[in-house]
Amino acid sequence: MAAEIALPSPSYKGTVSVEEALKARRTHRSFQSRPLTLKQFSQILWGAYGVTDQKYGSFLKTAPSAGALYPLDIYGVVGKGGVETLAPGIYHFRPENHALELVKQGDLRAEVARQALQQMWMAKAPLILVITGEYKRSSIKYGPRGVTYTHIEAGHVGQNIFLQAEAIGLKAGIVGAFNNQQIIRVMGLSTSHDPLLIMPVGYSE
Ligand SMILES: Cc1cc2nc3c(=O)[nH]c(=O)nc-3n(C[C@H](O)[C@H](O)[C@H](O)COP(=O)(O)O)c2cc1C
Repeated sequence: MAAEIALPSPSYKGTVSVEEALKARRTHRSFQSRPLTLKQFSQILWGAYGVTDQKYGSFLKTAPSAGALYPLDIYGVVGKGGVETLAPGIYHFRPENHALELVKQGDLRAEVARQALQQMWMAKAPLILVITGEYKRSSIKYGPRGVTYTHIEAGHVGQNIFLQAEAIGLKAGIVGAFNNQQIIRVMGLSTSHDPLLIMPVGYSE
């Protein structure tokens, strides 16, 4: 396993109400190339799927999970100059340690966008999040229903990302149209991780 990069602690208090974030939430498709800070990246990841408690031998997270089995992973496709202090690359979020691990080096935003039906607007966002599901973590208990649960849970994380982005003055987009095998190849992911949602994040243009 690659060396971990510690993330700054997330903040548990904001200045935007849930109602304000819900009202403002829209799918954004136009972003400034302005970089994000590591603190902003950390906050988005925590909001998405961060740890909020520890009970029943599990790390409980910001999103619900059937049987607390947490079949999802969050990856960040960080562009060149996308997140201050981070080299461009694919980073895997490790919620339990609130840390990142580098999976692959290089600015792969354009390649990810190309494999998402050429939705090249995505490539301008400083950061593109990819939510993947590893079905066996849920199916081991729930059988084929574990696949359904994994998809439902990705939706929860997607909304968390939208709302957390709004709460810190950022915008997010959401993309479901992409070639799963090609996204796995470009990002250097394990074939057991099925990409479910792609969410560019940044400042609105
Ligand atoms: C599962 C899913 C897949 C989507 N895929 C795409 C996509 O590939 N490209 C895109 O531009 N928008 C995509 N969208 C965004 C929708 O077009 C958008 O949510 C819808 O138009 C409503 O607008 P709003 O999100 O701004 O309220 C997707 C949304 C969802 C929930």
